[in-house]
Amino acid sequence: MAISSFAQVHVATPNVEMVLKAEKGSRLEIMYFGSRLSEADAANIEAAGVPGHNAYPPYGMSSHSEAALEVTHADGNMSTVLVVEGVSSENDVLAEITRIRLKDTVYPFYVTVCYRAYKEVDMIETWTEIENLEKKPVRLTRFDSGYLPVRLGDAWLSHLHGTWSNEGMLVQEPLARGMRVIKNKDGTRNSHTDHAEVMISLDGKPQENHGRVIGAALCYSGNYEIRIDTRDTDYHEFFAGINPDNSAFTLSHKEVFRTPELALTYSDEGLSGVSRNFHKWGRKYKLAHGDKLRKILLNSWEGVYFDINEPGMDQMMADIASMGGELFVMDDGWFGVKYPRLTDNCALGDWKVDRNKLPNGIGWLVEQAHKHGIKFGIWIEPEMTNTTSELYEKHPEWVIKAPEREVVTGRGGTQLVLDLGNPEVQDFVFSIVDDLLTENPEIDYIKWDANMPVSNHGSQHLSMDRQSHLYIDYHRGFASVCDRIRAKYPDITIQACASGGGRANWGVLPWFDEFWVSDNTDALQRIYMQWGTSYFFPAIAMASHISAVPNHMVFRTTSLKYRIDVAMSGRLGMEIQPANMTEEEKALCRNAISEYKEIRPVVQMGEIYRLVSPYDGRDMASLMYVSEDKSEAVFYWWKTETFHDAHLPRVRMAGLDPSRMYRIRELNRIDNVALPYEGLSFSGRFLMENGLEIPLRHKVDYHKQDDWSSRILHLVCDE
Ligand code: DGJ
Repeated sequence: MAISSFAQVHVATPNVEMVLKAEKGSRLEIMYFGSRLSEADAANIEAAGVPGHNAYPPYGMSSHSEAALEVTHADGNMSTVLVVEGVSSENDVLAEITRIRLKDTVYPFYVTVCYRAYKEVDMIETWTEIENLEKKPVRLTRFDSGYLPVRLGDAWLSHLHGTWSNEGMLVQEPLARGMRVIKNKDGTRNSHTDHAEVMISLDGKPQENHGRVIGAALCYSGNYEIRIDTRDTDYHEFFAGINPDNSAFTLSHKEVFRTPELALTYSDEGLSGVSRNFHKWGRKYKLAHGDKLRKILLNSWEGVYFDINEPGMDQMMADIASMGGELFVMDDGWFGVKYPRLTDNCALGDWKVDRNKLPNGIGWLVEQAHKHGIKFGIWIEPEMTNTTSELYEKHPEWVIKAPEREVVTGRGGTQLVLDLGNPEVQDFVFSIVDDLLTENPEIDYIKWDANMPVSNHGSQHLSMDRQSHLYIDYHRGFASVCDRIRAKYPDITIQACASGGGRANWGVLPWFDEFWVSDNTDALQRIYMQWGTSYFFPAIAMASHISAVPNHMVFRTTSLKYRIDVAMSGRLGMEIQPANMTEEEKALCRNAISEYKEIRPVVQMGEIYRLVSPYDGRDMASLMYVSEDKSEAVFYWWKTETFHDAHLPRVRMAGLDPSRMYRIRELNRIDNVALPYEGLSFSGRFLMENGLEIPLRHKVDYHKQDDWSSRILHLVCDE
């Protein structure tokens, strides 16, 4: 990091740069955020007419504008004025961390604004450390992680909205005057409805592969708030942080409040360019085991729901093994002694195997899995209990509950959330995983579910004057448990599930290998959900399963080929009862699994290029993954509508090397006749300028015709 004579601070990655003005005794200003600057341009940045904005605006002396920080000082003063006290930097192999310490001009109250600029990926993480050296506690009522001014123009917002079973739906809108707020108040999970990640396209309507785009992701597991305020100035003002609603935080003398990281990136290669930045950073530095290929699994949930028993589990294990799968995951329903978990209304917290269902326990299942040549995984929901459970009978004081009031129940009419802010609860939650893995060290995978929000405000652990710490303490407790688990069990694979896609966020992924995108496994709707989710998360993290038809959620009947082709664009798995499949269906899946193994490195580690959006209403969608060295690619094409006389666009590919030749091979082929270009080679230039014609239908026997059509093409460089 360099501080020039103009007190310019440069926070830079290979292609992205932020310039700050940090003059001692003055406010810290942000001057620029965009692509890398030359030294000459950086020197003249102020003269170019880039007005400095307070890099971390506090409330009080410009009270008509939005603030990133709101504090009531120990003496009751609600205003804060922060000036630069010093700048320091640390350099390690991965990143350069710049810390700019600010001090209030009157009070011994400090804020350190921190930036981590990665050396090999284009991501800058920013967060703050708020320190109270006043003699008495101060009260924080807003504590954003970061702030960014975005120049007015034709700026558009892309973000993810949805609900349970329709997560990750893409919403794109021009940034208009007024305040745009995207927030979550679930308490335990945070990505069912809106997501804590956004993109802002600066050059008009968002384009996948062109134009300047800013990306921002708040790395937090709990309630968040993103605000974009567009007032009477030339800038949209972007703020992101923990949602302060009902979360005022009393900061004791000498205590430091660290805000979660806000990851910022920029690309002039459109939305897909920003996605590639998020994916690369995520795989390399954030996602648990982001450098390891994921196993192909069968999960028992949609196959048998709560109907768990030994012969049934064994049959499912044998079936997935015979299709080439690598892992079996036993979902909900395996536990409960006094209150057996026959449905969703009891036993959470009683993590002892139900011997009526599984007389030989988990150990036997693990052994059986090994006999079938696969690994074994198991479902838990450790943050929760039910009123009908031995745990609740023993520890009613552990649940979240408003003082003086009855508990508010969730799923099954009996579910309750444990108060993770309570250290005893943290120990208990840790012990669930610890006991399971101590007794069964060969368990390979845990599906960690969370099916209830915080529905009533109250901690039986916190004192009455600290009740507003509930949400923040919950997520601190969650982080501490996850840290302990990862310290002891660094290698186990853990899926973040939360009634489907409630935990798709960069706050939890450092401890989790993947997330369940949605409880909705309908292939058509998944195209939309996975498209949106891919804006911020790589395919390796997106669990995507082949399920039965009619789909259990939307009752749509899609072809098996279509379901396979959608699932193969993420982390492939199955969520089906194989006993109900025909031999022909099993053969198709067996072939798909074997072909997925070939393309797995490109899908899971490659770079995404989204080509035609399902949201654009062009009756089809298409995307591709390209290996980093551009020697290999996988192209996906799915028809989304069926109309006679439809004229679908010919899709131009992207991300290839124009000068190299790529040989084409169709995967999961069901047609009687090969595609005309099967086995032929085309230059990257041709494929990117012209693409290949994809037939509207599959050429199969008449009785096998249906209205679903999809293709996966594997492109491999000739040399
Ligand atoms: C919700 C999850 O999203 C499902 O996949 C399944 O694990 C159920 N919970 C089990 O209760």
